[in-house]
Amino acid sequence: MTGPIRKAVLPVGGLGTRFLPATKAIPKEMLPVVDKPLIQYGVEEARKAGIEEIIFVTSRGKSALEDHFDYHFELMKTLEARGKTAEMKLATAMSPAAGKISYTRQPEALGLGHAVWCARNLVGREPFAVILPDDLVLHPEGCLAQLVAAYEQVGGNLVAVEDVPREHTNRYGILDVVEDDGRLAKAKGLVEKPDPKDAPSTLSIIGRYILQPEIFDELDRQDKGAGGEIQLTDAMARTIGSQPFHGLRFEGRRYDCGNKAGFLEANIAYALERDDLRETARDIIRRYGATS
Ligand code: UTP
Repeated sequence: MTGPIRKAVLPVGGLGTRFLPATKAIPKEMLPVVDKPLIQYGVEEARKAGIEEIIFVTSRGKSALEDHFDYHFELMKTLEARGKTAEMKLATAMSPAAGKISYTRQPEALGLGHAVWCARNLVGREPFAVILPDDLVLHPEGCLAQLVAAYEQVGGNLVAVEDVPREHTNRYGILDVVEDDGRLAKAKGLVEKPDPKDAPSTLSIIGRYILQPEIFDELDRQDKGAGGEIQLTDAMARTIGSQPFHGLRFEGRRYDCGNKAGFLEANIAYALERDDLRETARDIIRRYGATS
């Protein structure tokens, strides 16, 4: 039996060191792809998946994130006075209803597992989703809606996965696969950032998860893993055996906006999706393609 997935945790407590100096005073998750901050894509994807409550795990220096989802009285009054209704819609469409958004703090960036653990009291004892906002998935329904649909079939812990080149396995959590129908892969183990020669497969976990609340019991141990961080992968791996664990090969293209190349590519791809920017983007690509 699987209950509905009502809550999504968005961990945004990281330091974003790969994006310095941009991230010295601005949270990485507020960097815009075209004209929308990464975090807004994450919240929109959660909504499309039927999520009712958003839980942010923030940290020092991340207050711009809270302001982004707040009502901006001065801005709204000015736009209203100027008759700018389209802009008013852009500025309010994303504000979740009062009481449907919460924030908790991760006092120290001790790793993704630790960030998720910080949300334990807000999540309670029910299955929940995790969205890492620096992973963007370009797909009309989003990636999380696909996970939720697959979860209704298999239950347990479920993550979005994609095949990566073997030389990149040391950047990701990798599945040790026991059964694979080409869409859903059942795992008997997980390894965080394995050396390409030791990787049990090339199926890597991307930033979308559906987890059972028992994950918090595993995270309670606060064990440090790869890179000296408290890894979510390690805690998920320890649940295998008592709970099923699957990876879903999702539809859509994923952009790793935590690194510069992925972020740049996402900006191009998302501009090409936009009716108001497609021709301009194509023209720019043609011009630079011709001169590089
Ligand atoms: P990353 O692994 O990309 O880490 O986190 P980071 O600190 O943001 O960036 P770099 O590696 O220093 O450049 C993936 C997601 O997990 C969150 C981040 O905010 C990001 O959304 N995270 C990571 C936390 O909330 N807390 C942590 O301790 C680590």
